[in-house]
Amino acid sequence: PRTAVVIPAAGRGVRLGPGTPKALRTLHGTPMLVHAVRAMAASRAVSLVVVVAPSDGVAEVRAMVDDHLHPTEAPSFAPARAGGGDETDIVVVAGGETRQESVRRGLDALPADVTTVLVHDAARPLVPVDIVDGVVAAVRGGAPAVVPGLPLSDTVKEVGALAEGATGPGEPVVATPERARLRAVQTPQGFDREALDRAHRQGPVQGEGATDDAGLCERLGLPVVVVPGHEEAFKVTRPLDLVLAEAVLARRRA
Ligand code: C5P
Repeated sequence: PRTAVVIPAAGRGVRLGPGTPKALRTLHGTPMLVHAVRAMAASRAVSLVVVVAPSDGVAEVRAMVDDHLHPTEAPSFAPARAGGGDETDIVVVAGGETRQESVRRGLDALPADVTTVLVHDAARPLVPVDIVDGVVAAVRGGAPAVVPGLPLSDTVKEVGALAEGATGPGEPVVATPERARLRAVQTPQGFDREALDRAHRQGPVQGEGATDDAGLCERLGLPVVVVPGHEEAFKVTRPLDLVLAEAVLARRRA
């Protein structure tokens, strides 16, 4: 029973400002995507990583992966693992217009013997290995869909559309969900492979598509559980997140 990770890395990252696709931007001189692949390969459970690249950037991403992770041109690489010896294969495929489409293309590239799948955003390059292992353990323990999550520090408001002809500033608040019951969810999210395949075969969610894979499983009525996440698994989305990511890396290397 193999565990594979799909890393959607085909987003343009417009909220980060103009420039190269987000996953290819560097932190401490290393592309974010490479950090993310290393974070997954650090888990002994993970034997295959499928990177989903921008459709016009597959060759570039393949070269980048080879450069940083296959320095000897070997077909696979052996990351530093406690008591290591296992190797992690890395495959690169082309992504789609939405995150959901990109993940589906990654799933289509998985070999038949994969039974557990993690989906991990390239934009979360610093997730600690304990979180990866915790998600895998929960799936292997029988949960079909597992997400790491954290309580929120901000109160969250649901807002509605401005009424026709409305004057005055601001968006109208519709509801304030009880903060103690909310979790901000991260990745890697972990799944029984068959469940996630089924969830993706239901077809796309309207608008920007599903923003997380567990949401697709919820649509199917499958139970989804939250396990503890980690503050260093934050998503690099806005310019300030780059500052934080660099600081986390500097602290780790100190
Ligand atoms: O846009 P967002 O921050 O939610 O993207 C989360 C992850 O999904 C990123 O790693 C991004 O590269 C990826 N993505 C993708 N294909 C898209 C859009 C986003 O692989 N079309």
